[in-house]
Amino acid sequence: MPEEDPRILELRSVRAKARAGGGQDRIEKQHAKGKGTARERIDGLLDPGTFNELEPFITSDTDELGMAPEKFLGDGVVTGYGQIEGRPVYVYAQDFTIYGGTLSEMQSHKICRVMDLALRNGAPIIGLIDSGGARIQEGIKSLGGYAEIFRRNAQFSGVIPQISVMLGPCAGGAAYSPALQDIIIMVEKQSFMFLTGPEVIKAVTGEVVDAESLGGSDIHMSVSGTAHLATRTEEEAIALTRRVVSYFPSNNVENPPFRQTSDNPQRMDDLLNSIVPIDPSHSYSMHEVIETIVDKESFLEIQPEWARNAIVGLARLGGQSVGIIGQEPSVMAGVIDIDAADKMTRFVRMCDCFNIPLVTFVDSPGFLPGVSQEHGGIIRHGAKLLYAYSEATVPKATVITRKAYGGAYVVMSSKYLGTDITYAWPSAEIAVMGAEGAANILYRKQIENAPDSAAKRREMAALYREKFGNPYYAAGAGYIDDIIEPRETRSKLIAALSALRDKYAPAPPRKHGNIPV
Ligand code: HXC
Repeated sequence: MPEEDPRILELRSVRAKARAGGGQDRIEKQHAKGKGTARERIDGLLDPGTFNELEPFITSDTDELGMAPEKFLGDGVVTGYGQIEGRPVYVYAQDFTIYGGTLSEMQSHKICRVMDLALRNGAPIIGLIDSGGARIQEGIKSLGGYAEIFRRNAQFSGVIPQISVMLGPCAGGAAYSPALQDIIIMVEKQSFMFLTGPEVIKAVTGEVVDAESLGGSDIHMSVSGTAHLATRTEEEAIALTRRVVSYFPSNNVENPPFRQTSDNPQRMDDLLNSIVPIDPSHSYSMHEVIETIVDKESFLEIQPEWARNAIVGLARLGGQSVGIIGQEPSVMAGVIDIDAADKMTRFVRMCDCFNIPLVTFVDSPGFLPGVSQEHGGIIRHGAKLLYAYSEATVPKATVITRKAYGGAYVVMSSKYLGTDITYAWPSAEIAVMGAEGAANILYRKQIENAPDSAAKRREMAALYREKFGNPYYAAGAGYIDDIIEPRETRSKLIAALSALRDKYAPAPPRKHGNIPV
C-alpha cells in the first residue's frame, strides 16, 4: 500500500476546518437553539448526495480596523448547487456560527457568484438566511456587498425563481434581499425580520419592543404581508421549500413541470352544486370550492393569514401548475380592500412572469367603501390589480361563482381585461351594484313617495335582482363565455387550460411599464 500523498492529507484537514464553520462551541450553541448549521440545512433541502460546494476556502480579507481578529474559511456562507426532485438549483446558506452569518464583502462575492451561475443556467436560487445583516467591522464594504445582491435580486426578478427561507434573526440587508424575491418562508418563534432591531429602536425612539412582536412570523404573516408562508420548525420550512419549487419552472422561458395525478380530470363533485346558499346574505367557503376543484391535496395557499378576504395560492389542475386567485366570501364578504388588492396583484405578476396560468374565482361585492380606504389610496392599490391582470399574458380563466359587482367584476380578470375564458355559475350576480343599493338610487323618488317606503324598496330591489341577479343578461350580451354547473368546473377548467397551453400574446415593445406602486 503506497503512503498517502501528504498534500491530500492537507486538503482533507483544510476541508474539515472549513466544515467546522465558527467552531464546535458555536455549533453547539446553534443546535441548543433548535437550529441546524448551514450544511445541515442544505442537506435537508437538496436531493441526497447532490450538493456541490463552491469557494469553501474564501476568507474575509478586510480588517483594516483590527476589529475582526478571527478569520474563518467560507466567511459565513456556504454556497453551491444541487438538485430538488432531479432539477438543478443554486443555494446559499448563511452560517450563523461565523460572525452571526453577517454579510462581508467576500460573503457577498460568494452569494453573487451562485446567483450569477443560477441566472446563466436558468435555475432557481434559494437562500437559507440566518444573519445579523451588514458585518459591522467592514463598514462600506459590507453595505456595497448588499447593493451587489439587491441589484441582482431586482434584475433577475421574473427570470429565475428566487426563494428565501428565513431561519434566524434577519436584520437590515438580510431582510431587504428576501423582500425583493418571489417567496419568503419563515419559522415561528425562530425567524425575525426587521430593518432596525429592538436595541436600535430603543436607542433612537425610546420604544421598547421584543424581536417577536417587532418582526416575528406572526407579524409578517398577518400584519405586514411581507412573508408568504410560515412553519413551526425549520425542518418543515425546508421541506416546504422543496414543495414550493415543484410548482415553478426553472426559469421564465420554461413551462412549470407537469406532475402526474391520479385525480380524474372529469371528476364532478356534487357538493359544488349546493355550496352557494340560495339566500345571498349567507356565506360559504371559497377555500372549500377551490380545494374541491383542483387536483387533490395540490392547493398551497400563499399568505393565508394576511388580507384573508382574498385568497391566492399555487395548485395543479390535471397535473399542471396554476395560480389561484379568489375572494373568501366568509371574510368581510370578500370585499376588495387595499391589502387584498396588493396581495392579489403581486401574486398575479409572480405567476405571469413564470408562465403559471391564472384561474380566478370571483365572489365580491366590490371595493371597500370608506374614508380610511380612500385616503389610504385604494384607487392606487386597486389600479395595480387592474394593471396586473391586463398585463398578464399567461392563459387566464375566470369563474364567477356569485357576486361580481361593479369594480369587483371589472378588476377580477373580466373578459375584456384580456381573460381567455370566462365562466359563470347559475348563482352569479353580475351587476354594477347590489339590488338594494341600486333600487335606492334608481327609484329614490318612487320609494320616498310610496305609502309604504320599505315595501316599495323591496319591490324595486326585486325587480332589479330579476334582471341582474343572474348571469343570463351578461351571457346574452357576450360578457361571459358560458354558464356552467358548479360541479363541471374542474373538467371545464382543465379543458380550457389545455386549449390555451400554446397561447401567444406578445405585448407591445417597451422598456417596462409604470405600474402604480
Ligand atoms: C458583526 C455581528 C453582527 C453584525 C451579530 N454579530 N451581528 N458581527 N456585524 N451586524 C456577531 C456577534 O458579535 C456574535 O459574535 C455573533 O454574531 C452572534 O451574535 P449574538 O448577538 O451573540 O447572537 P444573538 O443573541 O442570537 O443575536 C443575534 C442578532 C444580534 C439579533 C442578529 O446580534 C443583533 O442585533 N445584531 C445586529 C443587527 C443589526 O443591527 N445589523 C445591522 C443591520 S444594517 P461571536 O463572536 O460572539 O460569536 C444593514 C444595512 C443593510 O444590514 C442595508 C439595507 C438597505
